[in-house]
Amino acid sequence: MTYSGALYASEDSSESLESAQLRKIDFHIEQARAQGAARVLDVGCGWGSVLNRLVEVHGVEQAVGLTLSEAQAKWISGRSRGAVRVALESWADHEPDAPYDAIISLGAMEHFAKPELTIAEKIDSYRNFFTRCHAWLKPGGWMSIQAIAYGNLKREDFASSFIAREIFPESEFVRLAEIAEACERRFEIVRVRNDRKDYERTCAIWLEKLRANRAAAVEAASEEVVDHWDRYLDLCVRGWQLGATDLLRIGMRRIDHPRL
Ligand SMILES: C[S@@+](CC[C@H](N)C(=O)[O-])C[C@H]1O[C@@H](n2cnc3c(N)ncnc32)[C@H](O)[C@@H]1O
Repeated sequence: MTYSGALYASEDSSESLESAQLRKIDFHIEQARAQGAARVLDVGCGWGSVLNRLVEVHGVEQAVGLTLSEAQAKWISGRSRGAVRVALESWADHEPDAPYDAIISLGAMEHFAKPELTIAEKIDSYRNFFTRCHAWLKPGGWMSIQAIAYGNLKREDFASSFIAREIFPESEFVRLAEIAEACERRFEIVRVRNDRKDYERTCAIWLEKLRANRAAAVEAASEEVVDHWDRYLDLCVRGWQLGATDLLRIGMRRIDHPRL
């Protein structure tokens, strides 16, 4: 139940998607220095895979997730014990009752700026996000982020594409330069990876699974919906292959005495 790019041990390994997804989750937990922490926040927690892993495997006392999806919030709270908490709210409204030791956010920054914003407004929105994360984190706290970035693709070309029109009309990819500017004097960027080949492989397997289970998918949705998602995943695989999009994995440390 994780729907962002996996992390493979190597390009030619025969590793399963499930194993690579767990590797991705553990990578971010380690990059955020979240093991054994008292409180960790997952911004855009999806179906709760990171939250569960934090408390079940990494000894975290309390894992808090934010999502905008009612279905996800219900799913998580229906299954969670006290150590996992989920809130149906945006990071823009989040007011934690205690600080966090670490923050993780996977595949969510793509939804933090609307496509109609100017670049300056987009950076402002990211700066607002980093400023809030800075305020919520304890001194010395770390963040680990994963986000799809524009690679060799122009913003205006993406805006008119099938994916932007039909699948994610409200989404906007990030740029490393925008993140770097937005987090200045709040977070120090310590590590950046571009793992687009991992996302290519993830999408190729999602597409393979959709095709292998087409009849069941059509039964659950419709021919039209399945065709839509087939086309979407096929385009994604090609986008990753060509480097139209990059997959950023960024480790950042809180700047405790920012010169504002
Ligand atoms: C592509 S999903 C990724 C989910 C999960 N992190 C994963 O890797 O499986 C994006 C998630 O971000 C959440 N999200 C988008 N904008 C958000 C916001 N402003 N505040 C909190 N969550 C947000 C969505 O509700 C969704 O859970």
